[in-house]
Amino acid sequence: MADNDINSTLVENRQFPPSEEFVARARIKPADFEALHKHAEANYEGFWEYQARQNLDWHKPFSITLDDSRAPHYQWFTDGELNVSYNCIDRHLATQADKTAIIFEGEEGDTRHISYQQLHDEVCQFANGLKSRGIKNGDRVVIYMPMTPEAVIAMQACARIGAIHSVVFGGFSAESLRDRINDAGAVMLITADGGHRGGKIVELKTAADKALEKGTPSIENVIVLKRTGQDIAMQSGRDHWWHDIVAGQSSECEPEWVNATHPLFLLYTSGSTGKPKGIQHSSAGYLLNAVITNLWVFDLQDNDIFWCTADVGWITGHTYVAFGPLAAGSTIVMYEGAPVVPDAGRFWKIVEDHKITVFYTAPTAIRALMKFGDEYPNKYDLSSLRLLGTVGEPINPEAWMWYHTVIGKERCPIVDTWWQTETGAHMIAPIPGAVSTKPGSCTLPLPGIVADVVNEEGESITEANKGGYLVIKKPFPSMLQTVWGDEQRYIDTYFPKFGGKYYLAGDSARRDEDGYFWIMGRIDDVVNISGHRLGTMEIESALVAHERVVEAAVVSRPHDVKGEAIVAFVICNGERPVDEEVKKVVQELRDWVGEEIGAIAKPDEIRFADGLPKTRSGKIMRRLLRNIARGEEITQDISTLENEGVVKQLQGKE
Ligand code: WTA
Repeated sequence: MADNDINSTLVENRQFPPSEEFVARARIKPADFEALHKHAEANYEGFWEYQARQNLDWHKPFSITLDDSRAPHYQWFTDGELNVSYNCIDRHLATQADKTAIIFEGEEGDTRHISYQQLHDEVCQFANGLKSRGIKNGDRVVIYMPMTPEAVIAMQACARIGAIHSVVFGGFSAESLRDRINDAGAVMLITADGGHRGGKIVELKTAADKALEKGTPSIENVIVLKRTGQDIAMQSGRDHWWHDIVAGQSSECEPEWVNATHPLFLLYTSGSTGKPKGIQHSSAGYLLNAVITNLWVFDLQDNDIFWCTADVGWITGHTYVAFGPLAAGSTIVMYEGAPVVPDAGRFWKIVEDHKITVFYTAPTAIRALMKFGDEYPNKYDLSSLRLLGTVGEPINPEAWMWYHTVIGKERCPIVDTWWQTETGAHMIAPIPGAVSTKPGSCTLPLPGIVADVVNEEGESITEANKGGYLVIKKPFPSMLQTVWGDEQRYIDTYFPKFGGKYYLAGDSARRDEDGYFWIMGRIDDVVNISGHRLGTMEIESALVAHERVVEAAVVSRPHDVKGEAIVAFVICNGERPVDEEVKKVVQELRDWVGEEIGAIAKPDEIRFADGLPKTRSGKIMRRLLRNIARGEEITQDISTLENEGVVKQLQGKE
């Protein structure tokens, strides 16, 4: 079981009920909340059947709600047919064709408003363009783009024709991109000449070319959006400009009606091995939880303007940018750039300029902006805000209180949402008009989600504040379908314990006296850097792939902005680097990891020694390494260590 790193939350007992004013206009009021829970408890399948009929438009209605004959492979609404893009766009056209679907702001300040009708037309034209390049139902398409509306258009267009997209975050390196393309067997790559971020241009096409050079035999076509206008190389026959692909295409494209379980997308995420896994999501089940959580947790209503700051390269950007809020018929905001360009007031300026009502971001962004002081948010009119959210990691009560007072002016409920790439949508989160919040707690499971904290035997832990494994005891519609191309890994990772009956989230958690959930940390070798999941094994394999490195172990230590920071312990071949040499090798290795994985994976600190502390049976003592990384006193007995002397080296004492 992981250490409890967030002890401070143990003393947190403030409670924040929503204001009467908020409750009065909330979609889900306390009585509705109770009714939803009652329905789900009385008739689990009936509840989901009702939700699916109520919230999705079906081309062919389903007669089977849940097929669990191949458990733990669960299939929802199996014989139904629908189209995700139809549900996100077309079904709103009769009533709100002119409503703004997307408000876009580039880092340099350019803006665009796209109505539902325009979104429909652009998605159809691009979908027809994809077809003209031979893309068909079931083909895999990798998307490696900046945060522009075209990223959403590309995702929607794939969904429209039944192609399975896999978005790769623009911050990942050429190497990571190649691995994902090859694992997915993608036939097409959609990218851009570049994007604006942090006052610089992100060279997406250049990285894409590098990935393709490294060998991606399945790729036939590359589509390139002109965003920055800079010169880039275009390979004739293979590379096509986006504007050429859509030129002359019809703005009508009949949706491909697919089965409910048809894969909508793959999204790669880190686990405990060196290789990221392709999380496969369904069409109907995924979209159902996506839409209801936008309605329940974000309380999205007709005139809301919703800004989720996540990039579409992460699951949050799928469910709360590209699909869920559109399926709910809302107006979303997309921002291309960094939060501190031109200064730390950018987010708050965007809130004022676009009159954002619901704002969703990561604790790391809140902590980073909090450091710049209250003067930035205080310069802007934030009175349009009515609801705030967080995701990605536990939020420390100090950052929560700042968010609550300085941003929300003590008026806006804060929804702290626990979920994962694998769960597709919120699982444990407050429904803001019905559940009081506590700083640092994601509160209670949503109706229809049977989450629990269990011990090693799988028994429910009833004692308050005692930690255990966070599990979900019943299948739910947006649960991952499998790991792409690796059924065994799906079972081994998510159903390794408790007779394969419960979904194992990989987090530890506790429940307090009120039954509120508090996430304590990961139980596997996954670290959370600025809300981004990274496997320590991935970073270790990148390090040992460098010619100078023979062995590496990676752990994390707490970091006041990023949540966790990466510390790598490295054994070089030949002499251990000392003095002047250290800086040089550190630089070399950090750059190397940046190339192998992406800038987010660069170790914050690298320490060298002649060997790693190991037990006599050869096991690396990770707990000891964590103590060293945190500068903690070593209390455990190290006399049994194979190589006691290296501890001093790693501590920097020798
Ligand atoms: C962590 C992001 C505490 C958790 C949606 C989980 C959280 C992992 C929270 C999933 C939260 C996410 N409080 N921890 N509200 N939300 N986590 O797949 O460890 O990128 O397992 O999905 O982030 O990360 P992922």
